Amino acid sequence: VNSPPNFRPPHPALDFHVHATSGRARYATLHLRHGPVSTPVFMPVGTKGTLKGLSTADVTRSEALDNRIILANTYHLALQPGTELIRWVGGGGGLHDFMGWDRNILTDSGGFQMVSLLKLAEITEEGVTFENPFKGVVGNDDDGVDDDGRTDDGRDRDDDASTSRKRPRLPPSSPTNASHSERMLLRPEDSIYHQNNIGSDIMMALDDVVSSVAVDPTRFRIATYRTLRWLDRCFHAHQRPNDQNLFPIVQGGLDTSPGGLRDICLAGFRLRDDKAPGYAIGGLAGGESKDDFWRVVDHCCRALPDMKPRYLMGVGYPLDLVVCTALGVDMYDCVYPTRTARFGVALVDGEAPGTLRLKGHDCASDYRVIMEGCGCAACRDSNVDDGGGYTRARLHAMLKNGNPLAVSLVTHHNLAYMMSLNRRMRAAIEGDAYGEFAISFVRKQYRGKE
Ligand code: GUN
Ligand code: ZN
Repeated sequence: VNSPPNFRPPHPALDFHVHATSGRARYATLHLRHGPVSTPVFMPVGTKGTLKGLSTADVTRSEALDNRIILANTYHLALQPGTELIRWVGGGGGLHDFMGWDRNILTDSGGFQMVSLLKLAEITEEGVTFENPFKGVVGNDDDGVDDDGRTDDGRDRDDDASTSRKRPRLPPSSPTNASHSERMLLRPEDSIYHQNNIGSDIMMALDDVVSSVAVDPTRFRIATYRTLRWLDRCFHAHQRPNDQNLFPIVQGGLDTSPGGLRDICLAGFRLRDDKAPGYAIGGLAGGESKDDFWRVVDHCCRALPDMKPRYLMGVGYPLDLVVCTALGVDMYDCVYPTRTARFGVALVDGEAPGTLRLKGHDCASDYRVIMEGCGCAACRDSNVDDGGGYTRARLHAMLKNGNPLAVSLVTHHNLAYMMSLNRRMRAAIEGDAYGEFAISFVRKQYRGKE
């Protein structure tokens, strides 16, 4: 009412309200174009626009899940089915229409996926050049790493290896896919072009990602400055700032020294702060020690503005969520909960180390559900009067038989676990008791039932 006539909020597609803090942990609501999201929030990964093993209805109709934001990957969608197809399906609704999902979507920019999945990627000032995986030279899913490049302890393979080797039908005018040549180039402009086509609520800037345990210090320096130059190119290429948010990603290796690489990156972002509705912390979860990991997260959180959301990329172990929320992180994503489910591993409380290997001998004759009190499709069958539920023994047998329903049920459970963890974190922050909550959570993970 009191705004001048031409007043426009600086970021029309995002609003961030902090309701409560406990120490540096915060409970907030992130308002995006496709509805409000309570934070801290874990965003499950639907790399190719679908959460493996679950239907959209499984997610939206389950009270135990009810996710308000999921993540997809620009790189995979650009290759298959192509982002121009996604843009125009259903009359221009983008990925939301394509997958029948009217809630929020965040897309990663693609560079990280290419570098982690395709070891033949080459990074130059222009962008990331990579071997076309659809030429049959390099498969992107069959070398023991999953869609985000992280390995797991299981030995099973993803079921996508066969489809990912098929040649996709690519739109002829797409900048990165102008030809079906051996090599393709993803520039910052291309990443933004694809993300504008996809129509994600939050897009990520194309960053120069170096493994946090790489040895060459000059490579980190180059990557830090290049990430800033690429950020400017991303902002410049962005066609839909009124609909879609573009987050910069802090890089800079493990260097938190005063005036060091992380500081250089953060200072660069401060100069561009008016353009950024929120920020991400990148370059972690790549094999560095926990001490290094926490030190960098802590350093970045302290330097980033308090009024904007902070997103820690690629982090999804429950313990890491609990600790990093104490440091001030609001958003997370990781394939871990969904991926480990495909190996028959369920996330649980009170049983150190917080996981249950359903394929293990112990489960063969265990007639309890995965986790008592859990409201997921595996632990509680809403069609049965007494609550029903799948026992560990039954899931064990199903997994041993390769029954895909078992994988779907464990996926459901693991995502329900993450959502419930988020709710518990938010409640603890609201009651200003986050420190106690975090300590008791960590204790249980290390010691088992108390
Ligand atoms: N996913 C996990 N870490 C990163 C990162 O540093 N950059 C990008 N773009 N995605 C990530
Ligand atoms: Zn459950």
